[in-house]
Formats: sequence, structure tokens, C-alpha cells
Amino acid sequence: MSLAAPFTKLMYVSSLGKQVADGIERMDKILDEPPLAETSSPAAVTGYGVTFENVKFTYNAADEAVAISDVSFTAKQGEVTALVGPSGGGKSTLANLIPRFYDVAEGAVKIGNTDIRELSSEYLMSIVSFVFQDVFLFKQSIAGNIGVGDKNATREQIVAAAKAAQCHEFIEKLPQGYDTVIGGGGVHLSGGERQRIVIARAVLKDAPILVLDEATAFADPENEQKIQFALSELMKNKTVIIIAHRLSTIRGADKIVVMDKGRVAETGTHDALVTRSGRYARMWEQYVSAMDWSIAGKEAANV
Ligand SMILES: Nc1ncnc2c1ncn2[C@@H]1O[C@H](COP(=O)(O)OP(=O)(O)OP(=O)(O)O)[C@@H](O)[C@H]1O
Ligand SMILES: [Mg+2]
Repeated sequence: MSLAAPFTKLMYVSSLGKQVADGIERMDKILDEPPLAETSSPAAVTGYGVTFENVKFTYNAADEAVAISDVSFTAKQGEVTALVGPSGGGKSTLANLIPRFYDVAEGAVKIGNTDIRELSSEYLMSIVSFVFQDVFLFKQSIAGNIGVGDKNATREQIVAAAKAAQCHEFIEKLPQGYDTVIGGGGVHLSGGERQRIVIARAVLKDAPILVLDEATAFADPENEQKIQFALSELMKNKTVIIIAHRLSTIRGADKIVVMDKGRVAETGTHDALVTRSGRYARMWEQYVSAMDWSIAGKEAANV
């Protein structure tokens, strides 16, 4: 009888040991990553346009598969540049190169005329805001999560940003309002709500370069319209790079870059690309016929 208890404990030790070893392995992986190369003499930027110059990039140097090859285009300051194309085409990868989440293998990403590797990472972070596909929130209060973009923000500014991003209403309904801790005490937010909090963060930060990856992917039609409105305010006079699957959202973009298999397939405005009857024209045709299909479906249901 007296042996059973110590043996049970021993059993736990061995499973705990496995968990620890697994944790250490994952931590080692992170610690082994080389730190981002920082320039010793940071440069300044002359403008906020974003230029890709013959950019090549692979996720894994040993890997033959190239995520981005020979991409060149400029997203001008004060304009909206849209990236479209099939899934896996490299749109998110390109967006990730702008805040230097990865460095290019060849070529350069420039802001103004300055290679982003010549900027201090702190400065680069201060001039680029992003809303990405996988939203990341910190386990702290909602106000804290919105305030990440600007540490000196007052509560009034945070609430104003939340209102602009259409999240004030649902935040007010939470048990502790803006002081509710995300992920704690059974408070869980939907994908769309999380995304709007990240948009509020970007509104507050008000950086001159804005990268939006599928920013309205989670939204229902009513909220999508609200978010679009919030974004159009946010986008004024900025360099905006927007990735969207729903082509209607980017129809008015100043420039559309069609990405396919890591390369630029076409560039131009919506009207120019549609008349060119290339890849974009086919995508648009499919998009429109899908819309027609759903409307026709509704009418049939009403009969
Ligand atoms: N972290 C990663 N590690 C390795 N390969 C990756 C990683 N992220 C993406 N890839 C690969 O890079 C290529 C481009 O992916 P990317 O996410 O840029 O496509 P996308 O155009 O954003 O697609 P989607 O429209 O589905 O979001 C794909 O072949 C993908 O498998
Ligand atoms: Mg993507």
C-alpha cells in the first residue's frame, strides 16, 4: 500500500520530464535564431513610398522552393496598392518583408530611397503599422492592447481609436469594459472582434505606412462596411498596401499588383487590368459570376 503513492508520483515525474524536454527544445530553437542584423549607422527616410527591387526570398535557405522571386514594384505614398492573386501566391510573404519580419535573400525593400536594413528597427516599427491575417493580442487589458501602438496614449485617445475601429460597442459590454483582460476569466473574443482591436491599435499608432492583410476577412457584411469606413479614414494620405480576396474591396485601388507563384503576373488599375483580359480579368469574371450566383440563389429561394 505504501509503495503505491511514491510510484504514482514517479509516473508523473517521467511525463513532466518529457514536457520540460519538449519546452526546452522549442526555446532552444528560438534562442538559436540569429538576431536581426542592426545597422551601426541608422539612416533617415526621405519619403514613405515602399519599393520592392528585384526581391527574392525563401523561407528556408536550403529549400529549393522560392516564396518570392524577382518582384519589383512601388507602392506610392498617398496611394492604395492592392495585392491580389491565388492562395499561396506570396502576398502575405511580401507584406511580412516590409516590417522586416524576414530579410530578403536578394534585392532590396526600400522606404523612400532608403534600404530598410539601413534603418534602426525601432524607427522602422514606428513608421509601419500592420493588421495581419493571424491577429495577435497580449494577455493584458483591452486598453493596453490598443495602446501598444502608442505608449503615451490617454484613455480618451484609446476610446476614440476603438470607436473609429468599430469596437467601442462590444468593449463597453464586457464585464470590466476597457480594463477587461483578454484571455483571462473566461473572456474570449471572436475573430472579427480581435481583428477590430488590432485595427484600433493601428488607428491609434497612425503610422505613415499601413499594411493590411485580409483586414475584413472575419467581418459580417454590416461590420465589413463599418470597418471599410474606419479604414478609409485611417488610409488618408498614407502609403497603403492592402491584401484582399474579395476583389470588390480593392476595386478603387490606385494600383493592383497580381501575384502568382511568387512573381508579379500583372500590374495596373482595375479598369486597365479588366480590359487586358489576362489573369486579373479572369479572376474578376469568376468573382462577378460568383456574386451573380448567390443573388440568383436568393431569388430562387424566395419563389
Ligand atoms: N512560415 C513559412 N514557412 C515556410 N513556408 C511558408 C511560410 N509561410 C508561407 N510559406 C510558403 O510561401 C508561399 C507563399 O505563401 P503566402 O502566405 O505568402 O501566400 P498568400 O498569397 O498570402 O496566400 P493566401 O491568399 O492564402 O493568404 C506558399 O507556398 C507557402 O507555403
Ligand atoms: Mg496570405
